[in-house]
Amino acid sequence: MTNNNTWLDQLTQNADVATVLLAGLPQTADMWYSVIANEPRLRVVARAVAREDLHAKLAANPQILLLDALLAQGPQDLADLLNGLQVPLIYVVFPAQIPDADFHAVQAAMRRDGVKFYRDTANLVDLVRTMVTDAQMLQRQNGASWSAELSGARQVLPVRLVGVWSLAGGVGKTTIASNLAFAAARRGIPTLLVGMGAPDDLPLILGLKPQPNITTWRANPSQESLKAALQKRDVVDVLAGFPDMLSAAQAISTPPDAANSLRNLADQAIRLGYAAIVFDLPPSMESVAALGVINLLLLVARPSVEGVMRTVEGYRTVVERLGLENLLHPQNLRVVLNRVRDRIDSKSFHDLANRYLKPNNPQAAFPPVSVSIPDRLEVGQAHDRGDWPYLACDPLARAMDTLATELFGGASQPPVGDNGTKRLRIKLPF
Ligand SMILES: Nc1ncnc2c1ncn2[C@@H]1O[C@H](COP(=O)(O)OP(=O)(O)OP(=O)(O)O)[C@@H](O)[C@H]1O
Ligand SMILES: [Mg+2]
Repeated sequence: MTNNNTWLDQLTQNADVATVLLAGLPQTADMWYSVIANEPRLRVVARAVAREDLHAKLAANPQILLLDALLAQGPQDLADLLNGLQVPLIYVVFPAQIPDADFHAVQAAMRRDGVKFYRDTANLVDLVRTMVTDAQMLQRQNGASWSAELSGARQVLPVRLVGVWSLAGGVGKTTIASNLAFAAARRGIPTLLVGMGAPDDLPLILGLKPQPNITTWRANPSQESLKAALQKRDVVDVLAGFPDMLSAAQAISTPPDAANSLRNLADQAIRLGYAAIVFDLPPSMESVAALGVINLLLLVARPSVEGVMRTVEGYRTVVERLGLENLLHPQNLRVVLNRVRDRIDSKSFHDLANRYLKPNNPQAAFPPVSVSIPDRLEVGQAHDRGDWPYLACDPLARAMDTLATELFGGASQPPVGDNGTKRLRIKLPF
């Protein structure tokens, strides 16, 4: 467990990470922490749970303060507090019980820049992104660089929104998404597996019903309806994907700020307490919205020359064409090689991909191959029987465990019971 000093030491070594002080009632601060912890460009340095605590914790000299308005004694107190703080970027969240009039009064009383106000219903994924963008702007203004590699040691249970994707069909996306979700859930991480196919084959493969599914939630996009739309296979909670192409086509045209957008789905899943949300993404347009929501992308690849080409194209689609490089940190892009035989190994795959990506650039930085999964008959046989390939194929299980440790942290644990609690178990590093 890291102590305060080590954290501060790390910070001074790493000028490219914006430091955050969380100030809020414990439950709120825990939730914020779980969302911020997966963002390599933000580092939570301290947490204050009471008004009196705040001033002491400000000694950590954070660049960002995320403040729960309930910590103040009222609108006047809050306005005075904010006007007096030196922290350059402040985000204040007002819980529902604070009346609109107070919400507006505090904003009207601001005598400084750099303070943004949110209602409790604000989208958490967006809020974190806004912080990163604002902090980047600030760093640029202050002349600091933002490009250096990150020290990146992962601390605790961050919320991971993982997309498993490839431009190619049949490469093992569903196999990897579902077995990774299984590996994560087995180690006690509250995990949600979301299908995005149209028609989605997850229910069939996992022996679940095609309904309820994502369209059930989209018709009534509330947290309650999300809970009702889930099905369970062993330890994994599953939201089945689209029943047909038409419903998927409607989803594609949903604006990102609509109540039934995927962004809102992710936000609600986080609020329900999921720490790992794994999207099984098809190689079609349905994936574009999801690619804008995830904070970690696994590119599934076949170990062949065509596999290299398709994977580099997938990478380009995300980084260059969809312009998501600001949302997805390079550290959060990985390659999973699947169905490996005696052809191309991880190193040759990576070398070929770099050459294909930038033929004249020896410094090209294609994402690393995280794990390689061999081609094994047991995988398909387990699927056909309706079993988890994880339980039938050791090399696949080992690869999924390695990936789960890399992405979610923690050692392998015995599975949680059927009613495994969905509360986040967060170990705060202070
Ligand atoms: N490592 C493996 N060894 C052997 N068979 C595998 C392996 N991984 C996946 N398969 C088999 O390959 C087939 C395709 O896998 P899967 O459905 O996961 O691919 P996909 O990328 O999701 O396909 P789609 O593009 O249709 O969604 C399945 O029959 C599965 O059992
Ligand atoms: Mg699939």
